[in-house]
Amino acid sequence: MDTVKASIKSVPSINLNNTHMALRRCWHPVARCGDISELPMGVLLLGENLVVFRSGDRVRVFYDRCAHRGYPMHKASVEAGGLRCAYHGWLYSPSGACTEIPALPGDTAIPSRARLRQVGGVEERFGLVFVCLDEPLPGVTLPVLPEASDATFMAGDLPVLRTRSCAGLLADNFLDTAHFPFVHAGTFGAGEDKVVGSFDVRRSPGGTPAGEFAFSASYEHLFANREDPAVAKGERPLNQTRRLLYRYVAPFHLSLRIDYVEAEGTNTIGFFVCPETDEYCRIFSTIWRNDLAGDEARMRQAVDFELEVLKEDLLIQESMATLVLPLPGPGNPPGAARHPAAEIHTRADRTTVELRRVLGELVARSAD
Ligand code: FES
Ligand SMILES: [Fe+2]
Repeated sequence: MDTVKASIKSVPSINLNNTHMALRRCWHPVARCGDISELPMGVLLLGENLVVFRSGDRVRVFYDRCAHRGYPMHKASVEAGGLRCAYHGWLYSPSGACTEIPALPGDTAIPSRARLRQVGGVEERFGLVFVCLDEPLPGVTLPVLPEASDATFMAGDLPVLRTRSCAGLLADNFLDTAHFPFVHAGTFGAGEDKVVGSFDVRRSPGGTPAGEFAFSASYEHLFANREDPAVAKGERPLNQTRRLLYRYVAPFHLSLRIDYVEAEGTNTIGFFVCPETDEYCRIFSTIWRNDLAGDEARMRQAVDFELEVLKEDLLIQESMATLVLPLPGPGNPPGAARHPAAEIHTRADRTTVELRRVLGELVARSAD
């Protein structure tokens, strides 16, 4: 097997697990905006319990712990746009400040420390709530997805899936095409080329990604478009051009845009991973298409198909023995070639090598 000369060393010095400290300074999806109401909801992110609710026109996110005795705030009742703890009734305003302690006489001053612990940032973007637990690391951004705000595209959400897997390995899987003929033989993979095309991997524009910790990978090839009705009518050739554009934004935001050049359709699938704990992730996935002419039934079929594809991937991921993504970094110890997480990279792994490189740089930056 050819190894890529320019590739990163195959010996890792950092194993990125789902709750690595560097991830506290990155953005992660925690819920769909449509699932958030004024009623508090508990979610997990990087091993932390959070409470999420809507107040006025804003989504509020706090650590899910009452400042008094730590009772979970997702069990609170809603009052004046804020939350009243179910244990001793402390009332918190929408900004998290305690405004009433029922056990104290009304004229007693409320300790300034009596407030819900805030997270570093909350943003809503294309139907998802993103949270950064600590201050965002310079160079880390939210994902960018032009199709999501393009009125010519329809969106279809996949169900949110919870899976026992490693977020870094899920990102690796999404960027990898060599597994198609093997893992996806039951859906679309049987006819796919086993040889991986020559992807053009770019860290700067040309793709989309904003920020330093992002890249795009593009590839154009001919394929047999048997689903194009114009082929049967003799209006278009069977062999048509397909452009693939992978867009990656750290840590675990991915999208694949497929442009069918002759048939003039675009399909995009976005894939946003929430690392809940060291063992579990939730996956938020949406497809955007501009070739369905508003046909909801066809969109439902497309969503069901992508769900089957995703389940094929998860069967593999849930069988991985080690739930870490090995990253390059300084200080590889001598003899580490026998490290149990050591990997071999080939020229077919360009996109997934870039993933490791970007995340390795991000972890190094967070340690500065
Ligand atoms: S634990 Fe919440 S008011 Fe006491
Ligand atoms: Fe796959």
